[in-house]
Amino acid sequence: MKYDTVEEFRQKRDEAVAFIKNETDFQPEYLLILGTGLGQLADEIETQHVISYDQIPHFPVSTVESHAGKLIFGTLGGKEVVAMQGRFHYYEGYTMQQIAFPVRVAKAIGAQSLLVSNAAGGLNPNFRKGDIMLIRDHINFQGDNPLIGPNDEELGPRFPDMSEPYTERMLELAENVALDHSIKMHQGVYLAVTGPMLETKAEYRYMRNLGADVVGMSTVPEVITAVHMGMDVLGISVITDECFPDALEPVDIEDVLAAAAMAEPKMTQVIISVLERL
Ligand code: HPA
Repeated sequence: MKYDTVEEFRQKRDEAVAFIKNETDFQPEYLLILGTGLGQLADEIETQHVISYDQIPHFPVSTVESHAGKLIFGTLGGKEVVAMQGRFHYYEGYTMQQIAFPVRVAKAIGAQSLLVSNAAGGLNPNFRKGDIMLIRDHINFQGDNPLIGPNDEELGPRFPDMSEPYTERMLELAENVALDHSIKMHQGVYLAVTGPMLETKAEYRYMRNLGADVVGMSTVPEVITAVHMGMDVLGISVITDECFPDALEPVDIEDVLAAAAMAEPKMTQVIISVLERL
């Protein structure tokens, strides 16, 4: 899916929105996107309604096994949320517009903020497997982005500002929450690559030299889309492997999922407490 015109995009979005509104009149204020191995947060939601991606017109369908593929509407931390359990990755073959689509739809049904999590490799030598990191900034190394193509001026500007993609107020709240709960949480820069292969030692060394603290295969397209529409953004990475070029160990998806499961309770706590305080 790549739109040729703004009208084509609007028609598809409006059909998806109409379908959802026909299913539920729930109006979420927050969109949660749960990353690889991090779907458990959805279990904490006081669920009002669930819709499978494959029911929603024009919605991409998730292919990765560790992703469930449903929208969960309900209350979390006293706030009305919609959670995407399962997200779309560029390496699966989706276009950037497809990856952006659920964020566009969530905004159209009321979401004003995006809270996003992901699994990432740690480049910063102070980071360990199972740690969590608040995303302060990002570097887009995916070589593509969801804003290329016709711009819908009703949604956002042609040339969006990127001086504060991750909302300062949200960052401060998350910092305070982590302190109050004695959760060790790093802060840093997330670098997005396409994947699906992990990186070579030379690439990890290069990324670290560029100023990145973690590397992953998601999040940046959704964040760019949210920023384009003026949404607030909070992002948290869980460190699933240590990407130290001079001591690199082979990694497989089982290791990544195990490390994500180890860090998940910390991330869940931070997100719920941030929602409570917002
Ligand atoms: N590289 C890229 N993406 C990742 C990694 C990594 O080392 N770990 C988890 N996601």
